[in-house]
This record gives sequence, C-alpha cells and structure tokens, in this order.
Amino acid sequence: MAIVIKTPEQIEGIRKSSALAAKTLKHLEQFIKPGVKTIELDQIAEDFIKENHATPATKGYRGYKHATCISPNDVVCHGVPNNTVLQHGDIVNIDVTTILDGYFGDTCRMYQVGEISEYAEKLVQTTKECLRIGMEQCYPENHLNNIGYHIAEHAHKHRYSVVYEFCGHGVGLKFHEDPEVSHIAEKNTGPILKPGMVFTIEPMINGGKARCKVDRKDGWTARTIDGRLSAQFEHTILITDTGYEALTDIYGDF
Ligand code: MF3
Ligand code: CO
Ligand code: CO
Repeated sequence: MAIVIKTPEQIEGIRKSSALAAKTLKHLEQFIKPGVKTIELDQIAEDFIKENHATPATKGYRGYKHATCISPNDVVCHGVPNNTVLQHGDIVNIDVTTILDGYFGDTCRMYQVGEISEYAEKLVQTTKECLRIGMEQCYPENHLNNIGYHIAEHAHKHRYSVVYEFCGHGVGLKFHEDPEVSHIAEKNTGPILKPGMVFTIEPMINGGKARCKVDRKDGWTARTIDGRLSAQFEHTILITDTGYEALTDIYGDF
C-alpha cells in the first residue's frame, strides 16, 4: 500500500480533527485526580467529542468498545477503560482519536496523578523528548526511519528501552494508513518523506524491558512483561515544504 499525499482540502479537515483531539486531552486535565476511575474519564472524553460534533475513532474499531485508551503505570498502550481507580503517584496515558467530518486526528499524552516519583518523572520527561527528537527528523527528502533511529538513540542514552511491537502510522483519511512509523529503526532507511504526508509519531518508552504482553481477559491492554513503568506521547504530523506541522500540538505543552 502506498503512502497517500493529502490535498490542501484534506489537510484542512485533518487539521480541524487533530485540534479537537488535542482539546479533548486538555479538557481531561481537570479530572485527573486520585479516586477517579478510568471508565469515568473515558465517558467524559466521549461526551466532549460528541458535543463537538465528532465521534471517537476507537469505538467499534476491531471490536474495541471505548472512546479512549487509558494506560496507567505498567500499561504500555491500548489500556481498556474500566473500574481501575487512579491513585496518588500514578502516571497515566490517555490516547484519543477523533473523526470530524470524516477526517482523523490522533494524539496521546501522559498525566500525573498527584505527586509522582523522581523516577517516573524522568521517564515521562525523556519520552516527551523522544517525541520531539523524532519530530525534528520530519522534513522533505529525509528517510522516514531516521525518526525511529534518533528516538531510540535518545532513549538508550538514558538506559530505557523502546517498544517495537507497536508503531506510529499514516493517519487522516483512515485510522491506520501507510507508512508504519517504527520508533526504533536503522539510519537512512525507509520511505522518503514528501510534503502532504500525514502520520503519527508515538514512542512508547519502558523503564525496564521492551517486551509487552496483552491482557488475556480484555484482549487489548498491553503491559510491560516485567511490570516496570511505560510512558508515551503522540502527535499527528504533517510534512510541509520546509519541515513539519504538528497538527495536534495546538497548546505546545508536549
Ligand atoms: N490511538 C491508538 C494509536 O495511536 C490506537 C488505538 S486502537 C484501539 O494508534 F482500538 F486500541 F483503540
Ligand atoms: Co496513533
Ligand atoms: Co493514538
């Protein structure tokens, strides 16, 4: 499958949907407190998306039933919202993908519940840096895999590991399009970036081993095999004539 170059009209649609996804994550901030259940946060996100005339892309996607993925602590990604109660000291990722006028925007970020340990804070900070370092590789004529090469280099420098079982992806007209964006890759390989490409960068960085295991009961929630912490940030990125525009980065806070 080929990488679709988006038209200016499509880009405008993806920009609006991406902005709404970002606003949803911002809206959730005020509700992240010790005692809140992840299923309650999911409902708040769903209500907000619907109030804004959009739908959550995850609901009904391959049998997934929720508006968000909510991944605390050792959950790497695809955490199914449930009766889990967030505790003081937890770190938690919320991932939102909106469909607005048929266009998709995809973003996720970490939140802290009360005060967190220095160890957790450093993992979250480094993961945020990994996303930014990946974004710096986004310019026309660069190789796609230089994104993953530089992300992994930064993570390894801090003795963290990079999840290889889940990747970024083309996005915009569909939820998951080509290309696959690996967060650990070989330098100067992969497709050449061109203006009009839109894809996510969404590194998952683990405090311990890279490997994940999917919950056998819910079939989705992916945890680290060693129970150590994992962090993730995600932006939807447009390649422009001169570099990139992060379409979900409307606040500049990650
Ligand atoms: N939003 C996730 C991503 O960044 C995908 C979630 S798929 C789900 O690609 F079905 F688990 F929700
Ligand atoms: Co994504
Ligand atoms: Co996402």
